[in-house]
Amino acid sequence: MDKLIIEGGTPLEGAIEVNGSKNAALPILLSSILLESPQTFRNVPDLRDIHTTRKLLELLGLHCAYDRERHEMRMEPGPLVAEAPYELVRTMRASVLCLGPLLARLGQAKVALPGGCAIGARPVDQHLKGFEKMGASFDLEQGYIVGRCDGLKGAEITLDMPTVGGTENIIMAASIAEGETILHNAAREPEIVDLANFLNSCGADIQGQGSSTVTVRGVPKLIGADYAVMPDRIEAGTFLVAAGITGGRLFVKNCPVQSLEAVILKLQAMGMAFQEEEDGVWASIDGPIQPCDLKTQPYPGFPTDMQAQLMAMMCLASGTSMVDERIFENRFMHASELVRMGARISITGHSAVVRGVPKLIGAEVMASDLRASASLVLAGLAAEGTTQVRRIYHLDRGYERIENKLCKVGAKIRREHEID
Ligand code: UD1
Repeated sequence: MDKLIIEGGTPLEGAIEVNGSKNAALPILLSSILLESPQTFRNVPDLRDIHTTRKLLELLGLHCAYDRERHEMRMEPGPLVAEAPYELVRTMRASVLCLGPLLARLGQAKVALPGGCAIGARPVDQHLKGFEKMGASFDLEQGYIVGRCDGLKGAEITLDMPTVGGTENIIMAASIAEGETILHNAAREPEIVDLANFLNSCGADIQGQGSSTVTVRGVPKLIGADYAVMPDRIEAGTFLVAAGITGGRLFVKNCPVQSLEAVILKLQAMGMAFQEEEDGVWASIDGPIQPCDLKTQPYPGFPTDMQAQLMAMMCLASGTSMVDERIFENRFMHASELVRMGARISITGHSAVVRGVPKLIGAEVMASDLRASASLVLAGLAAEGTTQVRRIYHLDRGYERIENKLCKVGAKIRREHEID
């Protein structure tokens, strides 16, 4: 297992580039199950979750080839297989997004139930409820969701909460179902818009993506089109915080500024300044970090995937900040690790109170999930002395060689292999 060793205290300066979005690429790649022609995807990040998706698609019968240099994934359709095994689903919950496409193409699917994960129970009941409305039925057999249908039919579906994965799964299935599907209380995340735009470029008829009502008129088949995945707003947001927490100045190239509005507003309240250019944004801070309060919400509210990174910055603010986590339970596991670096954080239920301290001090810390790992790296960049972030396989799921990118803008980080 690898660990990162960070010598903190250097303000980051220079240009840093954002890769393609992991959370957009995963459903877009899985939607190739729906296609009846070869397809090339560009701007696909070189990440563990992407390679897990590639393995899953290969098991499901597609031929996939990834070009690391070009960040391109080439897909060729093959005879489809209906089963997504537990070994893959347990390492990546988003695997459940093959359920809708398989049901739509084959009329059957057997997908391992993802189970709980470090940041909460994360059920998939809303996905199943949607497919049931479209005519599917489900059984649970030895830890697998087994779905069957006699052709999916368009339906009117109202989600209990705007789930991102549920919205994506239903949109994919509806795109080749018979008739019209109207999805109410849909999630509005930019990655959903990217998925719908891709499917429309293949001949689908999806409208309303990005709003809470999405209408999908099923088409008989989809033919692949060349497509570039959107930039990763969470990776970009993490780099914006890296500028702020180290007191540096970074040009974040390909930063999707519009989809980061809620994050940028909070960072401005914390004292950061932004200057937008055609191909990115300059991020800097002048003066001390100000405290702020934030509440995570579905898009366009503040994203839960940026909560841990902002909390790292709040640790060094000149006052007390509050965090209210409304999307996931158990999403404060980074807090106890930040406390080991000298932060003052107290947690009650889904709220955290962060009392700013003048400095953080390097320590050995353990990453517990993807964004928690990012927050520990950020804290390490700002801390006095050496921080060792262990278990960074979580980080590699969502950030492409983050240490190389950060080193190019002045950070002192190295990766070491640890023998367990
Ligand atoms: C996606 C993102 C993840 C992000 C999250 C929220 C991907 C691959 N992952 O995850 O990075 O943190 O959105 O922005 O895009 N829920 C149910 N029943 C369901 C589905 C969800 O109760 O059927 C609940 C979950 O437990 C959670 C909330 O709804 O509390 C949001 O989950 P959801 O939006 O589905 O997140 P994911 O799609 O898993």
